[in-house]
Amino acid sequence: MTSYPTRVLTESWRGDPTDLIQRHSNLDSVDQSWQTSTSHTAAAASGMVQTSIRVPAHGKPTEDFMPPAQQTPGDTGAVVDVVLSQKGGVGKSTITVNLAAVIGENTRPNGPDEDAPVIAAGIDPQGSMEKWADKVEEDALPFDYVSTRGDNDMIPALKRDPLVRRIIVDCPGFMDIDPTAERSKDPLGHGAAADALRAVLEVADRAIVPINPEWLAFDPTEYTIERILRPRRIPFLVVVNRWDPRDGREDLEKVEAWIDEHGYPRTPQPIRKYKIHTNAAEKGLVVTRYAESGTALRAREDFYKLAIALDGLEVRS
Ligand SMILES: Nc1ncnc2c1ncn2[C@@H]1O[C@H](COP(=O)(O)OP(=O)(O)O)[C@@H](O)[C@H]1O
Ligand SMILES: [Mg+2]
Repeated sequence: MTSYPTRVLTESWRGDPTDLIQRHSNLDSVDQSWQTSTSHTAAAASGMVQTSIRVPAHGKPTEDFMPPAQQTPGDTGAVVDVVLSQKGGVGKSTITVNLAAVIGENTRPNGPDEDAPVIAAGIDPQGSMEKWADKVEEDALPFDYVSTRGDNDMIPALKRDPLVRRIIVDCPGFMDIDPTAERSKDPLGHGAAADALRAVLEVADRAIVPINPEWLAFDPTEYTIERILRPRRIPFLVVVNRWDPRDGREDLEKVEAWIDEHGYPRTPQPIRKYKIHTNAAEKGLVVTRYAESGTALRAREDFYKLAIALDGLEVRS
């Protein structure tokens, strides 16, 4: 049985990448085959070296470790779903990790000792995915996570990796927009966050646009769809997040009516607001790991339903 590398660790590092490999405690004894899979991209402005290392999920590679085979022609690679909205705080990060968790639990690994070939990726130049990942008990996750940290070739490369089947991308909290951009032009700005987003949208197959049941969320949602997604012909699905069932259905129906009036496809059910989600982020938990309770079950159900709704959406051709 061939054991393939399944985890990507990325961090900015000055100097010899071997030192970086050594710093990860479960990778103490590395052999030569690791280093063959190490790649660098010079991040010009900072003078830092960006190092990505693909490593097996469970420490050292086995003897028969081999670089992944070339993709067969015509294979478009892993499906890339991008979670984005111009509005901050709508639930992009929450949706990314929990969707990756439910999909990861239901995607067969490449081998008995392998992790599921599902990756949650953060493209925020601040590396917020890393902050979350620091709190996570690694073995508890049915997916891998990466943070691109300015390496805009990473997600295209992962998409081509035959061992990866799904990539869910968490977009930066706030979108870098050039307010002076003409209506007919791409409004993405010129900073690192905009460059990262542009690169991901190039390879995105679909987009998930979270919206909260409050009118303040309407404009940024429309902007995201009309200015960012539609010009790129990226199929999208709007999902209402953080609807509190205790508030009654009025706000939910209002936002659903708004989405429908605009002709935007949306999931049939919202993701409900549960305190358990808010607390989970702090503890590095994902829905598939919540302690059993009625609320945990309902919280999980919402993300399974989102995963199913997403399956019905065609990928960009
Ligand atoms: N369905 C939900 N129920 C309860 N809290 C939620 C839910 N979705 C998101 N949150 C909380 O709302 C805040 C913003 O969510 P986050 O995922 O960080 O948004 P974004 O990534 O779009 O900025 C976080 O504190 C998060 O825990
Ligand atoms: Mg976020």
